[in-house]
Amino acid sequence: MSKVTVVGAGNVGATVANVLAHKDVTNDIVLLDIQGDLARGKALDSWQQAPIDYYSSKLRGTEDYSETANSDVVVITAGIPRKPGMSRDDLISTNAKIVSSVTTSILEHTPNPIIIVVSNPLDVMTYAAHSVSGLSEKRVFGMAGILDTARYRAFLATALDVSPKDIQAVLMGGHGDTMVPLPRYTTVAGIPVTELIGADELDAIVQRTKKGGGELVKLMGTSAWYAPGAAAAQMVESILRDENRIYPCCVKLTGEYGLDDVFLGVPVKLGKEGIKQILELDLNEAEKALLDTSAEHVRQVIEVYNKMSA
Ligand code: NAI
Ligand code: 2OP
Repeated sequence: MSKVTVVGAGNVGATVANVLAHKDVTNDIVLLDIQGDLARGKALDSWQQAPIDYYSSKLRGTEDYSETANSDVVVITAGIPRKPGMSRDDLISTNAKIVSSVTTSILEHTPNPIIIVVSNPLDVMTYAAHSVSGLSEKRVFGMAGILDTARYRAFLATALDVSPKDIQAVLMGGHGDTMVPLPRYTTVAGIPVTELIGADELDAIVQRTKKGGGELVKLMGTSAWYAPGAAAAQMVESILRDENRIYPCCVKLTGEYGLDDVFLGVPVKLGKEGIKQILELDLNEAEKALLDTSAEHVRQVIEVYNKMSA
């Protein structure tokens, strides 16, 4: 059976571990946090849910990296979340140090894991984990696109009064206000969404999606965790089951979409070895311009990170 480590036992990390346990795709989930008792408590609480919800995945909490040895997949959620008034980019100096030290500690016990980064600012933290790890770009990537697409799909489901199950969509770009929802690639049970909703209403949903994370920070005083945790768990599932699911993930681009050496959300095929393929959509001029703007924004934040760590 495979082994999964989730670093950070806060709101998102504990949710990743809990959702993953429900999927029964691994029998060994290690939840690690600098607050060891918090990790132990949340792992124990999740394990006590197993007889009720009928799963067998065992969970344990720790602050000791030796317990993460030989993990197949590591999900990094350690770091501070944003508070009202903060952008994701405001988190960079604190979280860059945390993500870098977590990556180094993980590699001391697992030489070649697949790493899924969740900590914000997402695209840049994924870049940082990849740089520090020296691992293949197929094995270090970030979670954001599944979450952002889910928000878009949920808003559409409400507007159309249909099940979210029937809404398929793609969203690309960085995890921030420059993200690029793609109405041209959005369908409702196979029907192009543009046949079911007016242009203004659709545009309002696109704009709300771009600020979807901020909407929740305003409501709760901290950032979201249920959908983010479920999204990261879904990525782990596709890897461990070698499902080849197509999800938007934050990956290193090396020429795809005319972009080089930047981490950005694009649709990928996700399976046992990590990123098996980056799918290149035939974007029109307007869509490509939005993606370029998003890439430029991510590059600027990467530049900040590079200067900080020079
Ligand atoms: P939280 O504050 O609830 O949990 C963070 C946990 O990290 C805490 O338990 C803390 O003790 C732990 N931690 C801090 N430094 C650590 C270290 N060096 N080693 C191990 N553990 C450490 O925060 P929450 O809400 O779980 O968010 C976590 C991160 O995920 C934030 O950076 C947030 O912005 C990001 N996030 C990203 C999303 C995405 O779509 N990519 C969505 C939601 C949150
Ligand atoms: C979110 O989108 C804050 O990145 C986090 O909920």
